[in-house]
Amino acid sequence: KIVILDFGSQYTQLIARRIREYQVYCEIWPYHLKECDLNSSDIKGIILSGSPYSVADSRAPLLEEMVLKSNKPLLGICYGLHLLVKTLGGKVVQSQTREYGKALLTILEKRGIFEGFGNEIVCWMSHGDSVKEIPPQFQCIARTETCDYAAIVDDQRRIWGIQFHPEVSHTPLGKEILSNFIFNVCGCAPDWTAESIVKQQIQWLRNTAQKEKVVCALSGGVDSVTAAVLTYRAIGDQLSCIFVNNGLMRKGEPEHVLRNMEALLGKGRVIAVDAKDRFLKELQGVIDPEQKRKIIGRVFIEVFEEEARNLGDATCLLQGTTYPDVIESISVCGPSVKIKSHHNVGGLPELMHLRVIEPLRFLFKDEVRQLAIELGIPDEIVWRQPFPGPGLAVRIIGEVTENRLEILRDMDYIIYQELRNSPIFKKLWQSFGVLVPVRSVGIMGDERTYKYVGVLRAVMSEDGMTADWAKISYEALDIIARRVVNEVAGIGRMVFDITSKPPATIEWE
Ligand code: XMP
Repeated sequence: KIVILDFGSQYTQLIARRIREYQVYCEIWPYHLKECDLNSSDIKGIILSGSPYSVADSRAPLLEEMVLKSNKPLLGICYGLHLLVKTLGGKVVQSQTREYGKALLTILEKRGIFEGFGNEIVCWMSHGDSVKEIPPQFQCIARTETCDYAAIVDDQRRIWGIQFHPEVSHTPLGKEILSNFIFNVCGCAPDWTAESIVKQQIQWLRNTAQKEKVVCALSGGVDSVTAAVLTYRAIGDQLSCIFVNNGLMRKGEPEHVLRNMEALLGKGRVIAVDAKDRFLKELQGVIDPEQKRKIIGRVFIEVFEEEARNLGDATCLLQGTTYPDVIESISVCGPSVKIKSHHNVGGLPELMHLRVIEPLRFLFKDEVRQLAIELGIPDEIVWRQPFPGPGLAVRIIGEVTENRLEILRDMDYIIYQELRNSPIFKKLWQSFGVLVPVRSVGIMGDERTYKYVGVLRAVMSEDGMTADWAKISYEALDIIARRVVNEVAGIGRMVFDITSKPPATIEWE
């Protein structure tokens, strides 16, 4: 595998994703390497990420001795390059102006990371510091008009450094640079495939669970379903799944989830709990978004705990945690500011003394989807859009009532029906309806109407962290608005949300 040492760059995850796209396994480790061993023989190379810091900063993250001592091939990107240069006896200076944007890179040596390249490529720069003098034994292999040392190498020690960012799409051939590093320089093999992951994780699950009973909170989303199917393949009847119907799901969803799970795991493997009334009762009169989220989280834990205790002897909790959450929790810049309290099973493991098992913790969403396909999970689950734990409750502004849920479900279903066959659907991260508790005047036939306002929200995104509003065709917008207002009794007007994230969030609450 490749290890990416994270010095806090916003692009670190992107480096990992690019490498995984070449079917090479990689992990992101914090730069300070606490409890990490770089000498392990399965590590074929190390990449040092960029950073928001300057190497001249007194708080700048440092290069641990172990990195150079490991004698593994190294690739320093931006700050990673500066660190290598500074540590190995070269000179880095702070520039007056930050260089930001595209630059033309002249390649002086077409080998190693530049094997198969022409004379010039476009690359993306984003740096304040620059290399002024390269360390002994290093050679310059590329430059730009403003940057004398845009790429350097020490052939003997197999240390490469580049000033620009190969991981971003603005460096069109950046992927080839990374692939040259992992394959030509480090000698990795492209063996990280869905098939090999399934095999490996089944073995891992058997070793981890041994003979213990495992319980899983099934939401119906691709992560929890994939985790459950994989675990079932590994340990069979030792797994029990609990599906809590909180009454906040979309039209027909609970029935769908149960039908699909029956097809995947066989009859009677999922315990379905109908807790609709309990959730609705607790949400009565609540309008504050954070309070709604907290109530739903708490009630979920209560219901789940009661059911799991009925099972008696479960000692492990299966979770569909994926890599972005793991990276967030080890982030060298500290966890990001909390905007919304996410509903998950946080607190449950401690409460019930359950050991957590996370077979997807090293996978990105697209890898989970590949795994799901490999496991024979139907398309409709594989490509299901993310759906928040608190469900429709955070898409109903104001109080959540049975009547409002009904209105939102009907509107949301029309949106789904109209978009699912359009070419844009697979490009959408999410598309859904939001119910605003504001009424507006309209006219139907000869009658004055006074009904709720419905919102169409549709966004494109890579990971939900940032998002652009989706440019849905006028024809599709037109038909959605007509159908909703005609077919959903409570809605008299439709609007389209054209705000991106940031500054807005994807969900309205
Ligand atoms: P926001 O609204 O913060 O949402 O831009 C980003 C992504 O996260 C989803 N989301 C949630 N997912 N539990 C979840 O599992 C939650 O409580 C939750 N709240 C938001 C949201 O749908 C979007 O994809």
